[in-house]
Amino acid sequence: MTKKKCTILLTGGAGFVGSHVNKLLQMKGFDTIILDNLSIGNPIAVKHGTFIQGDVGCRQQLDLLFETYSIDAVMHFAASIDVGESMRKPELYYANNTANTINLLHAMIDHGVGNFVFSSTAAIYGVPEKLPVTEEAPHLPFTPYGRSKLMIEEILRDLDRVHGLKSCCFRYFNAAGGDPEGEIKNRKVRDSNLIPIILRDLKSPNPKGITVYGFDYPNKDGTCIRDYVHVWDIAQAHLSGLLQLLDGGDSAQYNLGNGQGFSILEVLDAVERELDLSLQVHKGDRRPGDPPILVADSQKAQKELNWKAEYPDLQKMIRDAWVALS
Ligand SMILES: NC(=O)c1ccc[n+]([C@@H]2O[C@H](COP(=O)([O-])OP(=O)(O)OC[C@H]3O[C@@H](n4cnc5c(N)ncnc54)[C@H](O)[C@@H]3O)[C@@H](O)[C@H]2O)c1
Repeated sequence: MTKKKCTILLTGGAGFVGSHVNKLLQMKGFDTIILDNLSIGNPIAVKHGTFIQGDVGCRQQLDLLFETYSIDAVMHFAASIDVGESMRKPELYYANNTANTINLLHAMIDHGVGNFVFSSTAAIYGVPEKLPVTEEAPHLPFTPYGRSKLMIEEILRDLDRVHGLKSCCFRYFNAAGGDPEGEIKNRKVRDSNLIPIILRDLKSPNPKGITVYGFDYPNKDGTCIRDYVHVWDIAQAHLSGLLQLLDGGDSAQYNLGNGQGFSILEVLDAVERELDLSLQVHKGDRRPGDPPILVADSQKAQKELNWKAEYPDLQKMIRDAWVALS
């Protein structure tokens, strides 16, 4: 375990996952620098560290940042994350998720920063044949979002081979929940994930109800099944991955999920039970790019990072997400 006080750059740290990792790193005694262009995130979520408004795509700004601060590692959360939008505007996803990340990696190499924690995604697996999905499952993304992330994972292998840049890639399934202490609020420009979309609609003055896309999947109730993992558990895994790199560990890739799948209707039912209300549900067509079922095998993270989900309960995730919106 490393003893020196380290400084970590978190890109996208005003967003959902990054703001929680920032809080945990501060609790553990790290100095943090948060770089976010606020396209989606809100600085109100940045409770700790030094906040800098800026874009990962701006090389000048990155140079200044790496010259000003002695950065030990970069945790890269900044990205465009709406899978559906990536089907309509793929160029935005390759620009922000791939090109801008290459810009960041290039700057890191030039400034001698050799540790990189990367927010990858379950979307790199496409429609997996075997469940639960292990890290060895074929990488066959069929959305530009998934491809934009997989490209970075592949580039990272080359950068390790040539420059010795070490990386830890976390392939999250569906990040959910909120700060268990209720400190970090969700004031994002918009949400792309199911639970906050439902809750945000309920908070609006004129709730429109929820559209469920596809009732004809070959699943128990016909709706898609997803694996929800609490954002605080994701944060804990990031801390372990970071420490592994700072201690000289090798590059690695890990799935992060609960290993338990919930259908969309089960999530809606859980929201109704948690908040004691009835949701208005609209039937929509399947969306291109939605795999019928995604459930993670996270045993590798459990074994190598000693990681275990502390908050696997879906009701708790809904409760924490609701508090974050209040
Ligand atoms: N939320 C999930 O379920 C999920 C699942 C798998 C992977 N991921 C990945 O995890 C990461 C974090 O996701 P999130 O849910 O916190 O998303 P988010 O949208 O809440 O946060 C992303 C943050 O990045 C910022 N940003 C975007 N482009 C930027 C740029 N070019 N320069 C600087 N800042 C920029 C946004 O303003 C936002 O604050 C993303 O890389 C995402 O692809 C998320």
